[in-house]
Amino acid sequence: MTTSDHKAKGDAPDKAPKGREGSSFGIIVSFFLIGFGLSMAVGWIAFPKLLYSEKQQPFDFNHAIHMDLVDEGCESCHLFREDGTYAGVPTLDQCSGCHEDAQSDSPDEEIFVNEYVANQQEVPWLIYSKQPDCVFFSHAVHVKTAEMECAECHGDIGTSESLKVYRENRITGYSQDIWGANIAGLKKNTWDRMKMDDCGSCHLERMGSKGPCFQCHK
Ligand code: HEC
Ligand code: HEC
Ligand code: HEC
Ligand code: HEC
Ligand code: HEC
Repeated sequence: MTTSDHKAKGDAPDKAPKGREGSSFGIIVSFFLIGFGLSMAVGWIAFPKLLYSEKQQPFDFNHAIHMDLVDEGCESCHLFREDGTYAGVPTLDQCSGCHEDAQSDSPDEEIFVNEYVANQQEVPWLIYSKQPDCVFFSHAVHVKTAEMECAECHGDIGTSESLKVYRENRITGYSQDIWGANIAGLKKNTWDRMKMDDCGSCHLERMGSKGPCFQCHK
């Protein structure tokens, strides 16, 4: 009895400080978690939002609808010129044959016809895949010689119903499609980004070498 009494008495003073220690430990942990949570929120949510300015295309464009209307697939609009260079984004004369008059009641087409077709003004499309001027890239060698699919580098834009938001890196001026949306640098698909290393690692895999600097910088 005396021993358990003693034990009980001995326990009591011990427990109080333990409780206090426990709660201050809890406070430290929760401060840590809140701070950690905030910094993660800044790093993963706020920072990318601050880093990129969002720009809208002049109007939306539906690739899927148009693919059903043209005869030569992607090449109806994205064609190789006679000298082998790529025309890239289509010019107005590739559209106006069909769009002299409105083809639908779409508000996007209304903008297109009234502001661009009627005034014969080229559409100032934003180019998601635009590389800096110092980079030399040729579609012919990749699409014709190496027989690569568009989607391998561009994803599903060509079959999409709507153009995505264009995000421009405020520091580098690069489109987000160059360095990728994932700030940890993770890459799930071949088209997630197109940095120097992404060009180089495919060249290493398919040609056995990353190639000399002047291959891509002329
Ligand atoms: C009727 C014309 C038309 C056809 C057919 C067409 N496109 Fe396009 N495409 C456009 C227009 C207009 C844009 C401009 C939007 C923009 O700036 O991205 C575009 C943009 C693109 C882009 C984005 C380029 C960039 O980096 O901004 C890709 C990739 C693309 N098209 C792929 C394809 C593929 C693949 C096909 C075939 C499956 C295809 N397109 C068929 C008209 C067309
Ligand atoms: C072969 C004829 C043809 C060509 C070439 C063509 N269009 Fe169209 N376009 C149509 C038709 C038809 C519709 C209506 C489709 C519907 O509503 O079913 C349409 C719809 C649209 C629309 C409204 C739907 C949407 O995409 O959001 C826009 C905008 C448009 N076209 C822009 C363009 C541009 C820009 C080009 C040139 C790069 C172009 N079109 C080339 C026939 C064409
Ligand atoms: C090996 C990767 C790769 C493949 C395959 C590829 N592209 Fe590209 N594409 C690029 C790169 C990189 C750019 C940017 C080039 C630049 O800015 O100098 C680009 C740019 C473009 C542009 C915008 C050009 C402009 O500035 O007007 C269009 C449109 C486009 N590609 C469509 C296509 C289509 C359609 C196909 C399939 C026939 C295709 N691409 C296949 C990598 C690729
Ligand atoms: C997914 C694979 C892949 C990606 C990504 C890729 N390439 Fe290539 N590239 C190739 C292949 C394959 C060839 C060789 C084609 C041939 O000659 O048979 C090539 C050839 C080239 C050549 C011509 C080399 C020569 O000696 O003629 C240049 C320049 C080039 N690529 C630049 C680029 C740039 C710049 C990028 C990134 C923006 C890029 N490539 C992305 C696969 C790729
Ligand atoms: C396979 C193609 C390829 C090769 C080979 C290559 N580069 Fe690049 N380089 C690129 C691409 C694409 C970019 C733009 C995207 C980026 O910044 O990663 C770039 C960007 C750069 C930039 C930044 C330029 C800017 O305006 O932001 C420098 C500097 C550079 N490269 C130097 C080099 C040097 C030095 C070598 C040789 C050791 C080399 N590159 C080899 C494709 C290549």
